[in-house]
Amino acid sequence: MGNTSEEKEALIRKINCVYHDAEHSEYDDRHSEIISGEVDWWDKVGKQYIKNNFSDGNHLSLLDIGTGTGFVVKTLTSHLSEKCQVFAYDLSQSMLHQAKKTINAMGENQYNFVCGDAEILPFADEFFDVITINAVLHHLPNYRRCLKQAKRALKSKGILIIAHEPNNKFFKSPLVRFMATAYKKLGGSVVKVSDRIQQTVNKELVSSGYIDRELTKDEIIDLVEVSSIAEHKKIDPRRGFNAQVLLEESLAGYSLLEKNSESTFGYRSKIPFMKVVQSAMKYLTNGNGTLFSMVVMKP
Ligand SMILES: C[S@@+](CC[C@H](N)C(=O)[O-])C[C@H]1O[C@@H](n2cnc3c(N)ncnc32)[C@H](O)[C@@H]1O
Repeated sequence: MGNTSEEKEALIRKINCVYHDAEHSEYDDRHSEIISGEVDWWDKVGKQYIKNNFSDGNHLSLLDIGTGTGFVVKTLTSHLSEKCQVFAYDLSQSMLHQAKKTINAMGENQYNFVCGDAEILPFADEFFDVITINAVLHHLPNYRRCLKQAKRALKSKGILIIAHEPNNKFFKSPLVRFMATAYKKLGGSVVKVSDRIQQTVNKELVSSGYIDRELTKDEIIDLVEVSSIAEHKKIDPRRGFNAQVLLEESLAGYSLLEKNSESTFGYRSKIPFMKVVQSAMKYLTNGNGTLFSMVVMKP
């Protein structure tokens, strides 16, 4: 099972595809922390950095990498004119079909749905004015390759929006890690693998020769959520991202327009006293949240 680094990368890519194919019709219900929790933020950045930022906003081109069911493009629609070219891009055909269904129902016709890998973007250099990546980098075997491709495909003065990525600064304190582990044990995990998804993933991966024995639910999460922090059985702050390091290493020369840190802990929890736990965590982490988002501009 994934002996060389290339095999491991191929397995991560394949399991993400199969997992999200299997999840497509349930995705919106299972991820209310994104679908209703982040809509206001995306609406705000859409207005500020897309609608009001480009002199010829009528002809913008936008690429949403790892579009899923189309949450980002749907949210940004009100800030885009009918002449804009929008590309919704994902590895999972079923996710794209789901996105297509809802977007077509909205009567929009400037959308293109393209299936492919985030690390190999089939678009010309400097083609896009705006590129968005929401909740995707932590699923990739090599996020640096994706960012390199995104930078290549972005025009000069173009806007790149990276959001909903695990913030490892949040998990630095052992006390926070202990509280986060307890919270998960009490039932607060965001990602849960159902029996149906586990069976579907195992069946597909065994029959296509990617694995030679069935995977447990924890093993599936470890691979699908490869750079997540809180989703793994043991919370490991060496995973995830540090927004500052990401900026310096992968986005050198880009101007930071906005950086944000938010927390999904407690978003849909019915655990009593959650507000007290959230306030304690905020205090212990100097205001850091479990996730970060940023808006940058290409030089
Ligand atoms: C957590 S979902 C996020 C979906 C959407 N951006 C949102 O905010 O709701 C992650 C998405 O990334 C896609 N994905 C995972 N690995 C990918 C890859 N290597 N290339 C392109 N898309 C990928 C999945 O199929 C899935 O739709």
